[in-house]
Amino acid sequence: MSETAIESILHEERIFQPPAEFAASAHVKSLDEYKALYDRAAKDPEGFWGELAERELDWFEKWDKVLDWQPPVAKWFVNGKLNISHNCLDRHLTTWRKNKAALIWEGEPGDSRTLTYAQLHREVCQMANVLKQLGVQKGDVVGIYMPMIPEAAIAMLACARIGAVHSVVFGGFSAEALHDRLNGAEAKAVITADGGFRKDKVITLKEQVDKALANNTVPSVQKVLVVQRTGEETHMEPGRDVWWHEARQNVSADCPAEPLDSEDMLFILYTSGSTGKPKGVVHTTGGYNLYSHMTLKWAFDLQETDIFWCTADVGWITGHSYIVYGPLSNGATMVMYEGVPRPSNPGCFWDVVEKYGVTIFYTAPTAIRSFIKAGDQHPNARDLSSLRLLGTVGEPINPKAWMWYYQVIGDERCPVVDTWWQTETGGFMVTPLPGATPTKPGSATFPFPGIVADVVDLDGNPVGNSEGGYLVVKQPWPGMMRTVYKNFERFRRSYWEHIPPKDGQYFYFAGDGARKDEDGYIWIMGRVDDVINVSGHRLGTMEIESALVSHPSVAEAAVVGKPDEIRGESIVAFVILEEEYEPTDELNKELKQHVVEEIGAIARPGEIRFSDDLPKTRSGKIMRRLLRSLASGQEISGDTSTLQDRGVLDKLRGGA
Ligand code: WT7
Repeated sequence: MSETAIESILHEERIFQPPAEFAASAHVKSLDEYKALYDRAAKDPEGFWGELAERELDWFEKWDKVLDWQPPVAKWFVNGKLNISHNCLDRHLTTWRKNKAALIWEGEPGDSRTLTYAQLHREVCQMANVLKQLGVQKGDVVGIYMPMIPEAAIAMLACARIGAVHSVVFGGFSAEALHDRLNGAEAKAVITADGGFRKDKVITLKEQVDKALANNTVPSVQKVLVVQRTGEETHMEPGRDVWWHEARQNVSADCPAEPLDSEDMLFILYTSGSTGKPKGVVHTTGGYNLYSHMTLKWAFDLQETDIFWCTADVGWITGHSYIVYGPLSNGATMVMYEGVPRPSNPGCFWDVVEKYGVTIFYTAPTAIRSFIKAGDQHPNARDLSSLRLLGTVGEPINPKAWMWYYQVIGDERCPVVDTWWQTETGGFMVTPLPGATPTKPGSATFPFPGIVADVVDLDGNPVGNSEGGYLVVKQPWPGMMRTVYKNFERFRRSYWEHIPPKDGQYFYFAGDGARKDEDGYIWIMGRVDDVINVSGHRLGTMEIESALVSHPSVAEAAVVGKPDEIRGESIVAFVILEEEYEPTDELNKELKQHVVEEIGAIARPGEIRFSDDLPKTRSGKIMRRLLRSLASGQEISGDTSTLQDRGVLDKLRGGA
């Protein structure tokens, strides 16, 4: 964010009180109520979370101890036994919710399907039994590579039901990226579909799976379960591939949920970091179930009659916590949509809101900015009066986008809930509670009850009001990640050592910069590490650099983010070619395509600049700060005294 942008948000004086009518029936009704919850949780975290766990979830066996904290290792609800699929399904079947819509699904071509809790339960049990037949056992990892269809949620719940660990890979990732993730997790089986519909095209997911598994390069994978979605001709590998619609004919719809330990692994989800390959973030059963459940209930004020739509993909944590587990654990009705706004229907999101009477809508700032660009005529042509709350996530929301969301979509009636959180945190961490918290456009406001968040310097000391610092969390919380899959040391290094512990106080380092204003509101300023955020998707610069360097023409590459009006950031790559290659337009295109094949379309560089040198320190470190300034056309400011060869800057500027 530029300094002027920072200035303008720090002088943001608009403040929006929770609407009185909204507050009157909300779960948390006033700022005083929020403060009381917050103080209670801070004074007695075990009492606070223990009571909620008892009240909100079903347990097969109660825990012995709420929290065992041996920093940075947390165990929540020690020795408790439960199953999240039971909490998301079975327990609702003994109530009137049995025939309530659990999942309303809209396909991109316009087909649709509604599953009640009883129907969803039946399908989950069947898929769980099919997985068992395929040899999947408790503790095995199952890769899920799916379009946005009900079976994506069914697959996750089926794994959870039998104690298998799912590892969902976003359907937009390439075969190469899928290959790495399946290998990294040693997946035993993969659940996929023949394909899906995206932007009026068929995407061939099964073909990507075949490529990812080619020549037995992922030896752990024994079976592939394939859901029929597009009906296109699909290769089926004998002995390995099984159609879901065939396999389910031979299994019972009865599959009791396996009693799992609170700390049994529920899922792995890969996310980018500033170094090395993506990390497999590990979440466990009990704490995650409670945390995704409570955060949704309070921050989105989820009520029995709500129709909740989160526009994310199940391939991201947002889809895990707020399409699948949070809504279903609460017994809510959730909407799932296969499509995205596209030239043939730029107003499709508003069609979905109108068609199903969506009451709570949750999307990303990048989507909001593209709606602004597409024009008010699209939302204005639909009836959006069912909406009562608007959520946002993924990157800092600029006040202008916030105001448009509030006025044009919410008709100045719906609270805007800006939720700051991460794959690692499992659920919302800093967020308004809509019946309680006065909001300021661009601020995620205050920490959720039970979250001891602060803005500190590198020694862990709180910084003064409006001074920049690092966002940290000082106490464990139930939804926190437990480790990096098979790499505890990386977990410790990435999150717990940036700010060294002192006097027994540990600091969870989120990787985001932040400021607190004079009223204690938290303003997230964006990543402080080598991670860039493109359209709310997190990408490591090193990951993209490795993809570039794996092309025979590339000798060296440096990747930085450049501010982008719609996407937040776009990717700029500086590339040094091997001697025998010439910088041509064709090569430029080829390299962009190469990154798409190595990672996926979300990592396609917006710009590649060829160069014969890069600004480096005398010790050979690339000076990204300078490259960032160059990429965005800004003057080089600050200290350049450590630069080895000043001539490089002039050359790069000339070439821009
Ligand atoms: C990073 C986490 C959590 C689901 C989506 C992304 C950025 C996320 C906000 C927000 C400012 C935000 C941060 C964070 N971020 N939400 N409301 N305001 N920044 O999950 O891929 O794990 O990325 O997204 O930089 O660290 P993720």
